[in-house]
Amino acid sequence: MKSDELYALLRRRGILWPTAELYGGAQGLYDYGPLGTALKRRIEEAWTAWFVGLSEDYYRIEGAEILPEAVVRASGHLENFTDPEVTCASCHTAFRADTVLEKIRPEGIDGLTPTQIGDLVVAHKIACPKCGASALSVPRAFNLMFGLDFGVTGRERAYLRPETAQSSYLAFPRMWEVGRKALPLGVALIGRAYRNEIAPRQLLFRMRAFTQAELQIFFDPAHFPVPIDEVAEETLPMLRVARRARGEEAPEWIRVAELRSEALPDFYLYHLAHTYRFYRDVLGIPKERIRLFEKSDSERAFYNRIQYDVEVHLESLAGYKELGAVHYRGDYDLTRHGEGSGKDLSVLTGDGRRIVPHVLELTFGVDRNLWAQADVHLGKDGERTLWRLPPALAPVQVGVFPLLKKEHGSYARGLTRELLAQGIVAEYDEAGGIGKRYARMDEAGVPFCVTVDGETVSPDSPHRDTVTLRDRDSRSQDRVPRAEIAARISSATRFPRPGGGRRATGP
Ligand code: GAP
Repeated sequence: MKSDELYALLRRRGILWPTAELYGGAQGLYDYGPLGTALKRRIEEAWTAWFVGLSEDYYRIEGAEILPEAVVRASGHLENFTDPEVTCASCHTAFRADTVLEKIRPEGIDGLTPTQIGDLVVAHKIACPKCGASALSVPRAFNLMFGLDFGVTGRERAYLRPETAQSSYLAFPRMWEVGRKALPLGVALIGRAYRNEIAPRQLLFRMRAFTQAELQIFFDPAHFPVPIDEVAEETLPMLRVARRARGEEAPEWIRVAELRSEALPDFYLYHLAHTYRFYRDVLGIPKERIRLFEKSDSERAFYNRIQYDVEVHLESLAGYKELGAVHYRGDYDLTRHGEGSGKDLSVLTGDGRRIVPHVLELTFGVDRNLWAQADVHLGKDGERTLWRLPPALAPVQVGVFPLLKKEHGSYARGLTRELLAQGIVAEYDEAGGIGKRYARMDEAGVPFCVTVDGETVSPDSPHRDTVTLRDRDSRSQDRVPRAEIAARISSATRFPRPGGGRRATGP
């Protein structure tokens, strides 16, 4: 589906809509309705189960969304978190320089100085995309953070966090103190990040308030053992810099074991492979649509030593889009916060060395991935609209219907309550014909429907206390004892875990 069509469908179904729609909307801000909110929660929980489940030493925390100025000064965001912006002197509209230069420089402008960007605008006589005047300004660095007056005096400055990662860096000394005082130590956080994007566009792809799920793993670069055998035979869709330089867009499939003999360290490969598996096995993205896109020296942030973006091919946005990434950030973050706070953030390793821990960051854009769930899994199946959400992500797990409202309603309501009490998200529906009810559930991605009929309630029937269980994708129906329904649904909707069942949260 095209982006407009998909957005219209999501909006019509009340899954998401623009913030302050009543007032004409606010650029780059979106609200989620009940189904959108529940889907987002499921994605976040699936992420937690998978990534926090990777190790006994990874924990999930929460952190404030407002950061004192000293934090963003130390992190470098105050100085460097900018996008080059050009303004039209005629109509006064502001644009990101890379978007006005898109046609002549499709590879982007990362690594160019403002002067070089300005020269390109002049040399190519770039006109204002809105009014057509040749009056674009010299680019200026526009800081993307939202600043706030903090406290009553208004003299203290604070900022909405531009990435959740900062909250985890700030938590490191306390987590070290209260924990085992050993590396690696993973600190995961899911929450809002805020960026005053110059040109919010492509719906959930460039928002001004969005949700990130990020895992920061603090480790000793001289010793970070990982069970690499778990992934050694995995084949990854790699699009490396050398291949990109040859103009290739399609990835090449390379075994992890083979990549080990090249420059990528085991700790990086292990987490990259598990990230790929998460997209394939948990989010259900077909593997042909995924590529791991290596960023070159000039494209990645200067502190990132290795960066592969996880890109997924989305029909709605006509190409590959970045949905997450794996960043090896070196010791940049703790060094900067050590300097900024005046505190020593080095730690003593088991073998008596004093080091500033390095950071491996696994970042994941929740909103972009929610969009991908609609792009990849929502569509037509003949006449019906079907959302083939992976069962573990489905916001509603089972629809419960009485075939006839009067005769079977009270039994079906009782069954719904029983399922809810067992932690299964069940929705009772008695409105309209059975076909209409199936159609509503199919569109909402509900993987199972249960129907209570005459056989279920009749005291003389050999099928007493059995119901029909319908599978969304195959439309097949089985007659199943009521007592087995909860177990069947629970096992089909359980979050997959990387090592098959390690704990998901909490120290
Ligand atoms: N801590 C690293 C970091 O923030 P990033 O590439 O700027 O790196 C990470 O962002 C992820 O957050 C992206 O891969 C994307 O999924 C999501 N993201 C970034 N900016 C966004 C925006 N304006 N709107 C929606 N999602 C965004």
